Amino acid sequence: EAAKKDGYDTFMLKEIYEQPHVIAETLRGRIVNQKIVLDELNDIDFHQFNKVYFVACGTAYHASLCGSQVLERATKLPVIATVASEFRYNDPLVDEQTLAIFVSQSGETADTLAALRLAKEKGATTIAIANVLGSTISRDANYVLYTCAGPEIAVASTKAYTTQLVLLILLAYYIAQELGKEIDHELIQQLNTIPQYVENILKDHSIFENYAKMLENLHDAYFIGRSLDYASVLEGALKLKEVSYVHADAYVAGELKHGPIALIEDGSVVIAVATQPHIAAKTISNIQETMARGARVILLTTHGEEVKNVENTYYLPDVVPTLQAILVAIPLQLIAYYTACIKGCDVDKPRNLAKSVTVE
Ligand code: G6P
Repeated sequence: EAAKKDGYDTFMLKEIYEQPHVIAETLRGRIVNQKIVLDELNDIDFHQFNKVYFVACGTAYHASLCGSQVLERATKLPVIATVASEFRYNDPLVDEQTLAIFVSQSGETADTLAALRLAKEKGATTIAIANVLGSTISRDANYVLYTCAGPEIAVASTKAYTTQLVLLILLAYYIAQELGKEIDHELIQQLNTIPQYVENILKDHSIFENYAKMLENLHDAYFIGRSLDYASVLEGALKLKEVSYVHADAYVAGELKHGPIALIEDGSVVIAVATQPHIAAKTISNIQETMARGARVILLTTHGEEVKNVENTYYLPDVVPTLQAILVAIPLQLIAYYTACIKGCDVDKPRNLAKSVTVE
């Protein structure tokens, strides 16, 4: 087993560090002359759909939340993202004009498979986004696209998540392209630079190790963000609770005033993500509200966002806003990872969790 860790202390850390490579693998051959190539979907006429569903569990659901926002903006189709255990029992509005996308690293999650069967029964066209070749989901869906993350051993998902994001962004713009919508060429161009940026962020690991020291003795941590950043903080909070057992919740920053702000007191730690320029100023004003109540803040943002008196600010590289969802995942993973290490937790095998939940 030690050999397979390639010199890393844990599988989780090894998998975090594999991200530049596996993101590049997932992108390989997908962008040719500024066009997105997903040959697996060649025979789908996307004009037949009037709505899109994303269905998944856990981390794959958070990737779906991000993918759903990107797809909706790119195609102007209505998109709904939902967790599989809800979808399967809530009589979803699915018919022949529905495109249903199922995201699953393992391709074996019981709820996601049941949801897929239901969508097919209702007449939807189904696409699986899977990591494991030949998995049940990849056989059962009408179409399949693979993330090229390679085997993910650690229970907490890292490289599967970022490669799902990459593939879902490609898929969103592929559908937009097929529908004749305007394409964000800057985004397409920058996709190939993401592995290098991830590499650079990984070199800053000691910064995130220091942030983790702020969380070591806490029972609770608060994550806030808006828009795409909300999907990112949901995943950041999930990662932290999974591996370090610090109770972490993620809130839409605009909802703080409707309840969560009551929890903030001297010494509370707020991890804020503000990478989306159209809404960053609003999140920053929410951060200030938490600081006024004694919160210590870790802010992950982009250059150009002026924030005064924040204890810790990390500036992400300068890429188009949609791609920040991929980059910001890295600091959030490392904060969770180092918090778990400092606390002496079994990072690769957190208590009560399974890598793949194949029973309901
Ligand atoms: C389990 C794992 C999570 C994963 C979820 C969905 O809960 O611990 O890391 O995100 O299942 O798994 P899937 O294989 O369907 O992506």
